[in-house]
Amino acid sequence: MYRSAIKFTFVIALALLSFSCGQKKVHIGLLLDDFVSDRWERDRDLIIAKAQELESTVITEAAIGDSELQLKQAREMIKQGVDILILVPVDLEASAEIVNYAHKHRVKVISYDRLVSGCDLDYYISYDNVKVGELQALTMLSLAPKGNFVLIGGPNYDNNSVFIKMGQMNILKPAIEKGDIKIIYDISVERWEEEEGYNKMMECIEKNGSNIQAVIAANDNLASGIIKALNEKGLVGKILVAGQDAERDALKLIMTGEQSITISKPIENLASMATQMAVNIARNLKIDSTKLSHINNNFKMVPSMLLIPIVVTKETINLAPDNK
Ligand code: GAL
Repeated sequence: MYRSAIKFTFVIALALLSFSCGQKKVHIGLLLDDFVSDRWERDRDLIIAKAQELESTVITEAAIGDSELQLKQAREMIKQGVDILILVPVDLEASAEIVNYAHKHRVKVISYDRLVSGCDLDYYISYDNVKVGELQALTMLSLAPKGNFVLIGGPNYDNNSVFIKMGQMNILKPAIEKGDIKIIYDISVERWEEEEGYNKMMECIEKNGSNIQAVIAANDNLASGIIKALNEKGLVGKILVAGQDAERDALKLIMTGEQSITISKPIENLASMATQMAVNIARNLKIDSTKLSHINNNFKMVPSMLLIPIVVTKETINLAPDNK
């Protein structure tokens, strides 16, 4: 009885050992842009944790807004022997060079959160950014069906800014044509920084006065700067403000009524799916194509996984996943 138990344990241990030996340890190169929005540290940490769970490793670099540097970092990672790249492109066009270079060295690239355009990109995984813009505009229109609207968009080198704006206009255009609302100020920032939101909002008020019903910002950092400007002008709480990311500070501003809504994109799902995808590709496992849609990147229809974002208001704040 005792002997057969030992024998059984030995067989199970061997089976487990051979199973884990059979799995290729994948080396992932993770190229980030910057850490201006709090979310990116969380993206990085979750990708590393998921890779560990899948018996794989991650090396990380952040290019801090410098696309030349990001290309150098990619080259270095490929030299070090990474099997696959997960790329948050600094610049939607310039980053195509990273994809071209990686392919010359038989390394595949997953575009993470932001799309790389004009190249033979392997995969794209993100939240549906057109939907982000649509949800912002729909919710703001339901709160302010008539009046003057302001749009403060993200930088144009980030494709998400383009998609978000597209989504906003899908919803706002009919209301503009009906004469219900008017866009009195529409601008994109240079960087996703709070200070830019502040400067643009100050400029908007100086040019147009304070008869504004709603401001839609492309993310929570910009919204936070906008709220600072509104505070200084004594307008906070009188003008609706939308953001995106469900950052912890934005959730606090929603609780105090200074910000009206944000859009939540639970990072955990994105990070976990991207890492699983990276490991599967590097292990030559089949990717379930039924779960993929196709997004045009001005070169091809890129196989893409698009997750669904969620609106967060004061009423639904308890349902917002904690992104910290
Ligand atoms: C965008 C991203 C947003 C926001 C922003 C600034 O690409 O979709 O969630 O964080 O970058 O980093």
